[in-house]
Amino acid sequence: MPTPIVLDCDPGHDDAIALLLALASPEVEVVGVTTTYGNQTLEKTTANALRVLELAGRSDIPVAAGADRPFRRELVVAAHVHGESGLDGPVLPPPRTSSVAEDAVAFLARAARERGPLTLVPVGPLTNLARLLGEHGTEGIERVVLMGGAIGEGNITPAAEFNVWCDPEAAQRVFSSGLDVTMVGLDVTHEALLGPAEEKRLRAVGRIGTFVAELNVFFSEYHRRTYGWDGAPIHDAVAVAHLVRPGLVETQFRNVEVEVDSELNRGRTVVDRWNRTGREPNAHVAVALDRDAFFDLLVERIASLG
Ligand code: BDR
Ligand code: CA
Repeated sequence: MPTPIVLDCDPGHDDAIALLLALASPEVEVVGVTTTYGNQTLEKTTANALRVLELAGRSDIPVAAGADRPFRRELVVAAHVHGESGLDGPVLPPPRTSSVAEDAVAFLARAARERGPLTLVPVGPLTNLARLLGEHGTEGIERVVLMGGAIGEGNITPAAEFNVWCDPEAAQRVFSSGLDVTMVGLDVTHEALLGPAEEKRLRAVGRIGTFVAELNVFFSEYHRRTYGWDGAPIHDAVAVAHLVRPGLVETQFRNVEVEVDSELNRGRTVVDRWNRTGREPNAHVAVALDRDAFFDLLVERIASLG
């Protein structure tokens, strides 16, 4: 039986690739997509989720729009990375379909009730999930596999990764929820660098592969400018791959706390890797990725979408 999942996302180039990987993977059933502000405004990320589902011929999957801003912080979007549309690069028509009337939190609560035990895959800021926990608790949620955080350096600031930095209070609520949480952070997603060799492999496998390669061309521009890398880390797809193919990502069960007070370290995920604090472990933290096996899986699965 495939694992029922909801992808909570802010597409976003790597979010789009994560969604396509999930759609192509028989190990999981995408029972819905919920959206959040993040890489762009909520309006744009929701339109992008619909556009990607239409491209893949999967408009049967409901999209529920969620938070348009963090709990207590100002709204900041990552247009400098993902462009004005949030999905700049390949030309996609505007969506023909619409999101459902239910908001993301109501949708998640109902999906947990009706389709649980459910695995949530949040790959954007954690506002929707924190609201779900606050309003409905953890019932029906079996597991959370999130892309966010870092043991080491951040990306939006030296101290913090973008998704956690956007809404640190929400992230702290997730880490302290008592749920089975896996944190797939920058320490491993920066290993998932999609470069020209993988773009070539993707272009060779068909229409969706070509779309992914074209997304990556745009996504790589920021990473070339900033880090000098010849490619882009497709962060969010690593969280999906971890679910689909256990063993690709190595994890350690450790304590993670989120910095919510300091401005300098806002959103830093403090990971007690060497058990120095005596605090109880609360998350499976990704520490290594089998990069070659990850890209083999991605190319094979994207090929199956035609
Ligand atoms: C995360 O931030 C977003 O820009 C990406 O989609 C990913 O989820 C990486 O820090
Ligand atoms: Ca994302």
